[in-house]
Amino acid sequence: METFKNDVDSGLSSNPKSLSSKYFYDKKGDALFAEIMNLPEYYLTRCELDIFQNKTGELIEAFGVNSETYFELIELGAGDGTKTKELLRALAAQNYSFDYFPIDISSNVLEVLEKDLMKELPTVSVQTKQGDYFDVLASLKTSNKPKVILFLGSNIGNMNDDLAADFLHNLGANLSSGDKLLLGVDIIKPQEIVLPAYDDSKGVTAKFNLNLLERINNELGANFDLDNFQHQAEYNQDEGIAKSFIVSTEEQIVSIEATGKSYHFGKGEKIHTEISRKYNDELIEKITANSQFMQHQKIVDSKSYFADYILIRD
Ligand code: AVI
Repeated sequence: METFKNDVDSGLSSNPKSLSSKYFYDKKGDALFAEIMNLPEYYLTRCELDIFQNKTGELIEAFGVNSETYFELIELGAGDGTKTKELLRALAAQNYSFDYFPIDISSNVLEVLEKDLMKELPTVSVQTKQGDYFDVLASLKTSNKPKVILFLGSNIGNMNDDLAADFLHNLGANLSSGDKLLLGVDIIKPQEIVLPAYDDSKGVTAKFNLNLLERINNELGANFDLDNFQHQAEYNQDEGIAKSFIVSTEEQIVSIEATGKSYHFGKGEKIHTEISRKYNDELIEKITANSQFMQHQKIVDSKSYFADYILIRD
């Protein structure tokens, strides 16, 4: 609460204004993101599911595991597990010896996933871990067992390149030589394909973005009038980054009880809320350069829209 308040205050006091996309995910935000994943324009989830359904053998081969050697399959930010279930089903059918450790900050997400897996894949051993990724990884480090980490859905793309590089550096430091990372990323492609994914015709992404203001109203006692703000998405292929903004449609002043301050918005002024980075091999090289990961293999979907990179820890 205190961090949220301070982040909102500093983001709305800076020029240009910004708010962090990590605050999208309250209960309503989670539900809206689930809706986004089913939108016809949001190709990312379907493309990665295509890989998990149709290239499962290649994924397992790239992990370099065999059915005699036990390994730990650890997922960062497990969500509803739709894609991972495809992999778990194939591993179980081929009698691989492994435990699945879904890590998530939300204990609610983990409870639902665990129940679901018990029903659908009762032979898979699931050990849910609630908490911060790095705290949990540090606690798993002591096991010394070979590890395969899943970080799917182009979640890394919501970090800027410096943060992504730091993240991968820290991740590598929590693993041992030979461990693998399956990193799911969206590939750089033309605007006609990417932009609608962040500005869908039903306006779900707009609601998702504007929910951030609703959250500030509800949790910090602000008086944002949502009718006076609009969602805006931008993307150009040269840069390869989809950006989301909330635009003030008129000059206005908004007060926030929790900060005890008022914030001025000019007509057309933008609040930057999210980046969704798209990648190519060079960018993956760039964000892994300062980590102990090396590119091992790249598996793409049938349209070559999305890539699962398998990186190996040196
Ligand atoms: C969670 N993350 C990878 C999504 C993305 O594509 O950047 C969040 C999202 N934002 C708008 N639509 C989806």
